[in-house]
Amino acid sequence: MRLDRFLSETTELSRSLAKKALHREEVEVDGEVIKNPATQVDPNSRVMWKGLPLALVGLRYVMLNKPSGVECSARRGRYPLVRELVDLPHVERLQTVGRLDVDTTGLVLLTDDGQWSHRVTSPKRRFGKVYRVNLAEPLSGVALDRAVADFAAGIQLEGEEKRTRPAELSMRTPTEAELTLHEGKYHQVKRMFTAIGQHVVALHRESIGPLTLGDLAPGEWRELGEGEIGQF
Ligand code: URA
Repeated sequence: MRLDRFLSETTELSRSLAKKALHREEVEVDGEVIKNPATQVDPNSRVMWKGLPLALVGLRYVMLNKPSGVECSARRGRYPLVRELVDLPHVERLQTVGRLDVDTTGLVLLTDDGQWSHRVTSPKRRFGKVYRVNLAEPLSGVALDRAVADFAAGIQLEGEEKRTRPAELSMRTPTEAELTLHEGKYHQVKRMFTAIGQHVVALHRESIGPLTLGDLAPGEWRELGEGEIGQF
């Protein structure tokens, strides 16, 4: 890797500011001051900027229990961003794997590994996402039987070309449902319940494929282990 790129990946310097730092003789590689931005370095090179050692960060994989009022977006708008809850270097490089609405709580994955993110979200891989859904009105009897059948057959949502993929619905209490989806359309859970005349009052994602939140409290996060990453 070129030295100017190494500097921009390991510090807050842009490529052009990295070149200026090199020109000012602020950078040493293996004990020698280097000014040429095209100098090749590798992960074993000892690179120092203003006397501080720099190291490349590898790809990161994080699970987080999203509280309500936090946004799964790349840019700060009205709400704080989920990645602002994560205390890791270069956290701005982490992207959420899919999205939850601002008012939805629960399991969110973040990574800077685009290919992994794609594998997790690809409908072809059919990783189930389990949601706990609290409804305004009880759902039982014939209406429940119909909803289970409709969700299993796929719902035609407004503005969508295709029906939703088969989804599994069951009730934990008359107003608390468990819904497993194998895809992630915009506001999908809320729109599916609206389509059967129900209103969602609270939505929480409990798991994505084999990953569950475990005892992570709202707002808490942890890095995934290699075994967990490799499951996707
Ligand atoms: N479906 C929704 O309606 N909202 C979410 O946040 C996730 C799935």
